[in-house]
Amino acid sequence: MSEVKKIGLFDSGLGGLTVLRALERALPDVPKVYYGDTLHLPYGDKSDEAIVRYSKRIVEFLVAQGCELIVIACNSASAAAGKELERAFPQVAFINVIDPVVSEVARGAEQRVGLLGTRATVRSGAYADRLLKLAPEKELCSLSTPLLVPLIEDGFLGTGIDAQVLNHYLKDERLDGIEALVPGCTHYPLLEKVAEEMLDGVRWIDAPAIVAQAVVEAWDYPEAVGLTRYCLSDKTDSFLAMAAQIFGIHADWERVRFPD
Ligand code: DGL
Repeated sequence: MSEVKKIGLFDSGLGGLTVLRALERALPDVPKVYYGDTLHLPYGDKSDEAIVRYSKRIVEFLVAQGCELIVIACNSASAAAGKELERAFPQVAFINVIDPVVSEVARGAEQRVGLLGTRATVRSGAYADRLLKLAPEKELCSLSTPLLVPLIEDGFLGTGIDAQVLNHYLKDERLDGIEALVPGCTHYPLLEKVAEEMLDGVRWIDAPAIVAQAVVEAWDYPEAVGLTRYCLSDKTDSFLAMAAQIFGIHADWERVRFPD
């Protein structure tokens, strides 16, 4: 195993890069390994059993690269596999993307809070259950918004179609009267600007910054120095183009695939 301590992050595709971007600002010099499981995207429509299986193999890989702390940079995997990963890899410090955000919502002034997420995340009830423990007086209004991830991955950001679809979801009566909105999928922060034009006075929760802060607080080796490594289970031109266009990442992505 590598001696240099690193931070690992994984997601089904582009979404986790919103967390990586926030983390690069917070801990720019710390070596990181990002893994996008594009072969199995979207996670949000998979069974919990499949998400657990994919996540475990990725974590095994990240551990073998020297990752001491792993950010489950995917809400669907945090919800479906978070507990199982903690049980299976006791040597790893995991940061999931749900707990830090729920803590922020619990502390916030808003009583009625909206959540947009994938089917897997909303089905799990992970946000609702955790918020109930921390702030039982608050109301969480959850809506699954499965079209948003394919729209983003397929390059529809900024085309107006993203705004139409988001507007359709935000008009859902289940979200009536919300005072804050959680982008409960790591892809959704990419819709922040579009959303803010529609969210009159509703606070958009900055989930990537909140998660990055949780990582800073948990990371014991700020002196570790190194580059970020970018890995994918399936390397497509469209993914590389989107990573370059949205995040300015022009890296040499490595294809890393695990046997079934
Ligand atoms: N970005 C991920 C999430 O936060 C997964 C989206 C997907 O692959 O469906 O849930």
